[in-house]
Amino acid sequence: MLKVLLLGAGTMGSVHARAYKSLGNVELIGIVDRQEAKAGKLSANTSAKVFTSYEEAVAKLNAIDVIDICLPTHLHKEYVMKSIGIARNIICEKPLGLNVTEAGDMIAACEKNNVRLFVGHVVRFFPEYKRIQSLLKKGSIGTPAVVRTTRGGAFPRAWKNWYGDFEKSGGLILDLLIHDFDFLRACFGNVERVYAKKLNREDAVGENIDYALVTIRFHSGVIAHAEGTWAHQGFSYGIEIAGTKGIIDYNSAKNAPLKHRSKGKKMDGAAVEVPESPLASSPYRDELKHFIDCIVNGKDPVVTAYDALHAIEIAMAALTSCETGQPVTLSTGELTRGNEI
Ligand SMILES: NC(=O)c1ccc[n+]([C@@H]2O[C@H](COP(=O)([O-])OP(=O)(O)OC[C@H]3O[C@@H](n4cnc5c(N)ncnc54)[C@H](O)[C@@H]3O)[C@@H](O)[C@H]2O)c1
Repeated sequence: MLKVLLLGAGTMGSVHARAYKSLGNVELIGIVDRQEAKAGKLSANTSAKVFTSYEEAVAKLNAIDVIDICLPTHLHKEYVMKSIGIARNIICEKPLGLNVTEAGDMIAACEKNNVRLFVGHVVRFFPEYKRIQSLLKKGSIGTPAVVRTTRGGAFPRAWKNWYGDFEKSGGLILDLLIHDFDFLRACFGNVERVYAKKLNREDAVGENIDYALVTIRFHSGVIAHAEGTWAHQGFSYGIEIAGTKGIIDYNSAKNAPLKHRSKGKKMDGAAVEVPESPLASSPYRDELKHFIDCIVNGKDPVVTAYDALHAIEIAMAALTSCETGQPVTLSTGELTRGNEI
């Protein structure tokens, strides 16, 4: 039975807690949140103890196997570093850090101390996206050439509106589009060049609205156009891939098997819209189940910490392009360590 300490009882902490409760080989032993009531709510039907600080939790708990970090992004590095020496396994929500340096430092520190670091790039676990990857692998649409992705919904509501503070969240491009950057890179390999446009940062933050278009050229020759929005209502995501022998087309808004929206009901669940199908197994559960399996059986994860770092590299290039108005060519070198594609 792996003993898990969960940091953060907000939107993602709730999703992770639900997943752990459903996994047989995991015991949620502690939940930390500055807001005690939130952690208390998640601890229902578990033996998890509730704490309002990480320090208190590690002082009172012993033998923690996994620390799972579901805190706002600007706190990821601090808590990954603190967790080294306490647990041999760390699961961290995406994006791993606010920039490439932060992510690189976390990976290096974990490697040096023999700590396994897993990053929650959950799109890899969405059944539609898994199917797309296998169709591409089989050559079902010939040679892929042009790709269009879309992702987004309403501006996320969270603790102290930290998504609205660019210094804490990195905004839409780092926080949301990173999902597509990681998935596209998993499908089409390393990125050569990025060009991006977004709403003015000040406008976006002031009004709690954001929108971005990012064009990516891969070394393989594939061109992708990724749309990200925190300006719509109702979360949806989609992808179209045109190849020499056909096209793959998926849009969650068209294809979701069941939608449930109750008018007038006070929203009590996730404040960031977390997509899920009531008919399928939750991709978040599948992701955590996979990470736990990797820990128990010494397997390599399908998405590595280096993948997470590369996705941040693409996001940083997009942000630089937005600021300069110029395309950004990605450097290879230091970043081409680890599980290269
Ligand atoms: N994989 C996905 O699909 C997905 C979706 C949403 C969010 N995320 C990521 O998950 C992370 C968390 O986002 P969220 O939407 O759950 O945020 P949130 O604001 O809903 O939750 C954060 C929680 O952390 C608590 N907190 C803040 N500082 C703390 C501290 N020092 N010690 C203890 N508790 C503290 C807050 O009280 C809050 O309850 C972010 O990195 C975000 O980018 C991932």
